Amino acid sequence: MLERTFFMIKPDGIARGLENEITGRVERIGLKLAASREINMALEEAASLYQPHVGKSFYNGLIRFITSGPVVTCIVEGENAIKRLRELMGDTDPLAAAKGTIRGDLKEAAVINEDGIIKNLVHGSDSPENAKREIAIFF
Ligand code: RTP
Ligand code: MG
Repeated sequence: MLERTFFMIKPDGIARGLENEITGRVERIGLKLAASREINMALEEAASLYQPHVGKSFYNGLIRFITSGPVVTCIVEGENAIKRLRELMGDTDPLAAAKGTIRGDLKEAAVINEDGIIKNLVHGSDSPENAKREIAIFF
C-alpha cells in the first residue's frame, strides 16, 4: 500500500550534522522525501505531537528535548512507508538497535541526556492514524 508518514530528525541528529547521512539512508531504501523543512518546534506543536505520552514519566523531559534545538520535519512516501521507515530507524533504545539501522549505526556513546531522555536521532509515525495526525501538525 502506498503510504505517507511523518518523519523527523531530532535535535541530537541536527546538532551532530547527520541530516544528509540520515535522509540518504531513507532514500536508499526507496522511500521518497515528499517534503522536508527545518524548524524550531513550538511548545504547542511538541505538546500536540507527544499528546499520547501525556502523564508518562519521561513526558516533560521529552518536550524539553524536542524543543531544545532545530529539528527537520519530513513527509516520507512509499510502499509500506510506515513499517519500512520504523525498521530503518531501529529500536527506540539505540543500544538495542540492530546494525544497519539509523539508531544502531549512528548512536552516541552516551544515549541518555541530562533529563533521562533517550537520544535516538529520529522519529517516525507508528500507525496510519498517527501518521495522518502528525503530518497535519507540521504540514
Ligand atoms: P519516536 O516516537 O520518537 O519515533 O520513538 P518511539 O516510537 O520508538 O518511542 P516512544 O515510545 O514513542 O517514545 C518517544 C520518545 O521518548 C523518548 N523516551 N525516553 N527515558 C525513557 O525511558 C524514554 N522513553 C521514551 C525517546 O526519545 C523516544 O523516542
Ligand atoms: Mg513513538
